[in-house]
Amino acid sequence: EQQFEKVVHVHPMLSLSNVFSVEEFVEFDTRIKKTIGTDYTYVCELKIDGLAMSIKYENEIKLATTRGDGKVGENVTHNVKPITTLPKYIKHPKLEVRGEVFLSKQEFKNICNLEQKQYANARNLVAGSIRQINVNDPQKRNLDMFIYGLINPELYGCETYYESMNFLKNEGFKINEKIKLCTDTNEVIAYIKEITKIRNELEYDIDGIVIKINEYKYHKELGNTVKYPKWATAYKFKSDEAITKINDIFLTVGRTGKITPNADLLAVSLMGSTITRATLHNAAYIKAKDIRIGDNAIIIKAGDVIPRVEKIDFTNRINQVEYEFPKHCPVCSSVLEIIDLEHYCLNELCTGRKLEGFVHFVSRNAMNIDGFGRKIIERLIEHNLLKTYRDIYYLTYEQLIELDNFQEKSVNNLLLNIKKSLDVQLENFLYALGIKFIGLVTAKLIIQNINEFEDLFTITVGELIEIDGVGLVSANSLVTYFEDEENILMIQDIISCGINPIVKHKIINKNKYSDTKICITGTFDKYRRNDIKLKFESYGSKIVTQVSKNTDFLVVGQKPGSKINKASEHGITLIKENELDVLMGEEI
Ligand code: IVH
Repeated sequence: EQQFEKVVHVHPMLSLSNVFSVEEFVEFDTRIKKTIGTDYTYVCELKIDGLAMSIKYENEIKLATTRGDGKVGENVTHNVKPITTLPKYIKHPKLEVRGEVFLSKQEFKNICNLEQKQYANARNLVAGSIRQINVNDPQKRNLDMFIYGLINPELYGCETYYESMNFLKNEGFKINEKIKLCTDTNEVIAYIKEITKIRNELEYDIDGIVIKINEYKYHKELGNTVKYPKWATAYKFKSDEAITKINDIFLTVGRTGKITPNADLLAVSLMGSTITRATLHNAAYIKAKDIRIGDNAIIIKAGDVIPRVEKIDFTNRINQVEYEFPKHCPVCSSVLEIIDLEHYCLNELCTGRKLEGFVHFVSRNAMNIDGFGRKIIERLIEHNLLKTYRDIYYLTYEQLIELDNFQEKSVNNLLLNIKKSLDVQLENFLYALGIKFIGLVTAKLIIQNINEFEDLFTITVGELIEIDGVGLVSANSLVTYFEDEENILMIQDIISCGINPIVKHKIINKNKYSDTKICITGTFDKYRRNDIKLKFESYGSKIVTQVSKNTDFLVVGQKPGSKINKASEHGITLIKENELDVLMGEEI
């Protein structure tokens, strides 16, 4: 690789602030109006995804420099001169322009074909080309350049940005044809919409739209921050995909002992935030996608979830070795076990697992204890003050204040929040216990079907899977959890601290079904079992899973089974599916 001479930019090459939505642009515009009033116009143009360049002319190209860090760039004049769309000669003895060197999509493809190489993207190839080729290179790449800036425009009689661009066009520079003068924000918004629609049809890559105030007098008035001008912003397209390097692979252990491999990434921007970590799910995923340390990876972020390594760009693979999954827990060093293709640390005393368990227990959808952060939990575990969840409710002021960095006020707040957390919904309490396969939705379903929390201590797998939406795996897991006497003692202890263990079924309409016990059996054509259940619960009925002499009604669908015999034994009133129509027709 060539060495390039360093050049100081007399006018620094700034970057741009970002907006990611029309709303954020309107906020930007509101700030502008606060400073300069309403008498201004905008120029919108494409944000070319290439390499920024500053070019000084003294009739001919005198010096071309890369942006570098914005203050100091590199002299790449030799490699910029061959760009055919740059004028060879201009009338003005002295002029400095700024713009973007880029490669068209077609040219990018041609080069990949010609060199039989898959480059990551056009921008990387431009950067590489600018630092490698020179006039004598036989495989000269057809670099191109759009100009979007003029230094000291007043020297050429230009009072607005738009005038400058016209002036430069007349001088022979290539100005992007999508440039648009907009007289108000609505026109800017229309431009954003139009470009968003056609961006993929363009012959070159863009990563957004640049919106600039047109009048130079306002550039002066608004000024710059150290990083970017206040008179312009970039509307960035939300990209949910990025490519970057996997520096390392490391394991984390969850509360159930499940081990997750993660990629430590070279920082990359994704959906407007900087990503340094992505999940690799499990050993099978790493193997299937052949993911190795040192690889270039395509990272995606779908919705709100944590980013994941989607696939590997194999073109840059040189001597990366296959990843060997570690045999031991990263926290407690226990030998890992494989269950259903997942690695687990089965050591119940593993502090990594314990930490995650507590973090989950205090989290928002669980006990919702504010101010109980991971760091505090970590320190309490170290001090042996947290062994089981019950210990949270026995923490004292003296114990907490002794932890370093803990202020009196935060200790009192935390103690108050711990106390407040006892006023919890039972579904959140059940979820908080962190029982494997009992997520919030399942916890809710289960709680709706019991009378008091203690019912769970003796509930059977059969009773659980009768609940619509509860599967065998969750049922088995819950029953196993409550087979452990220690869990029961721990929960009873927490309940005795002040949790109300009684399920509150919301009564919305009182009628003849209120305060009755109702059992449901068979299958239904028109209704989901759970909806029937919710309906009766809204009347204040209690849904039971077994028919006994205390049952008041049996709702009967098709193929009812033995419950119907039991019902007739006890003279229980039946409710048939056609009778449900009137009830179910009402709004709950
Ligand atoms: S104006 C002081 N206009 O975007 C304003 N920049 O994030 C400087 N870019 O470094 C930039 N197209 O590489 C401007 N039409 C355009 C642009 C553009 C692409 C790049 C440029 C700059 C970066 C800022």
